[in-house]
Amino acid sequence: MKTIWQTLRPYIRNIFILLKTIFGFIYNFNRFIMYSGWRIDMKDSEQRNYYAVLVYHALEKSMSYKKRKKDSGWKNAYILLDLLKKADTYKNIGYHDRAAKQVLETFINLPENREKETSKQIKNALEKIKFNSTDTHGVIEYCLEDYQKGVLQDPERFFFSRYSLREFKNETVPHDIIMRAIKLTMKTPSVCNRQPWHLYHTSDQDIKNSVLKYQSGNKPFGEYIPNIIIVTIDLKAFFSAEEHYEYWIDGGMLSMSLIYALHSLGVASCPLNWSTSPSKDKLLRKTVNIHKNHSIMMIIAIGYPDAVNKVCVSARRPIDEIFSQLEER
Ligand SMILES: Cc1cc2nc3c(=O)[nH]c(=O)nc-3n(C[C@H](O)[C@H](O)[C@H](O)COP(=O)(O)O)c2cc1C
Repeated sequence: MKTIWQTLRPYIRNIFILLKTIFGFIYNFNRFIMYSGWRIDMKDSEQRNYYAVLVYHALEKSMSYKKRKKDSGWKNAYILLDLLKKADTYKNIGYHDRAAKQVLETFINLPENREKETSKQIKNALEKIKFNSTDTHGVIEYCLEDYQKGVLQDPERFFFSRYSLREFKNETVPHDIIMRAIKLTMKTPSVCNRQPWHLYHTSDQDIKNSVLKYQSGNKPFGEYIPNIIIVTIDLKAFFSAEEHYEYWIDGGMLSMSLIYALHSLGVASCPLNWSTSPSKDKLLRKTVNIHKNHSIMMIIAIGYPDAVNKVCVSARRPIDEIFSQLEER
């Protein structure tokens, strides 16, 4: 016969899990309310810059269509002008403020816009704003040959040779290799090209160990990991209620790119989950310099492989289990 404890145990366990889930949701909800950009504070350079790219990217898209509507884009053009005036007033210019100015200049100089009175007014206003971007923004012509530069002779060789590695060679991955991997990673697509990422890197063993103390999946290898990167997302980049999950998606996209970028440079890695409790998230934030508006997506363990390694096979499911033809009901 079962004791009362044995009978109640599964129910208590379920209630405990549900309560922890609710606390997790409340924690993330509070963080979204406190730190995301839903108030769209134009004085805050970071928020304004994320908003700038959202708007100027809409203009970039409008200018990229082969058959564009000749009178489209004006609403965004005026939003950008207003935003640029604010950037000029507050004198806290960011990368996307500069990019926005260039995109707006390109827009008013389109053959269909150039002679319009509104374009002339915007041009006059822009002349008073003195900052500029030295990069190229707007649209470029991109040929088939350009796309084909990405075709791998043997894609299977690249994709199937990556394995998560947990025990690395006893050697730190140099800073320039980490930076090169990050540069490659930055080509990751993000919603409206907002690039809401922030990466924290260390190869300092004490700092790494004090981070991994709060991570649940690094035993027994964590102590010997040469480098780690904490992938975070800046909540300030998200403005609307519908975007309350978007940052997890952008964070996942970036993380995978980083893993492939490292792999392309001969560096091995292992993603380490940050599926953690609010209290551990807070403890980590007390330990290291992660900004309060940056939400942690995962930690990536990084190092060189040894000459001979052991890795988990981690076999993949057959494709017919994960693939369906989309059909109308
Ligand atoms: C988001 C995420 C979190 C992970 N967390 C851990 C972890 O905490 N500890 C660990 O040893 N492996 C972790 N992994 C690695 C997976 O176990 C591994 O990617 C999976 O088994 C597939 O193997 P492969 O990467 O070698 O192809 C994680 C993977 C992902 C994508």
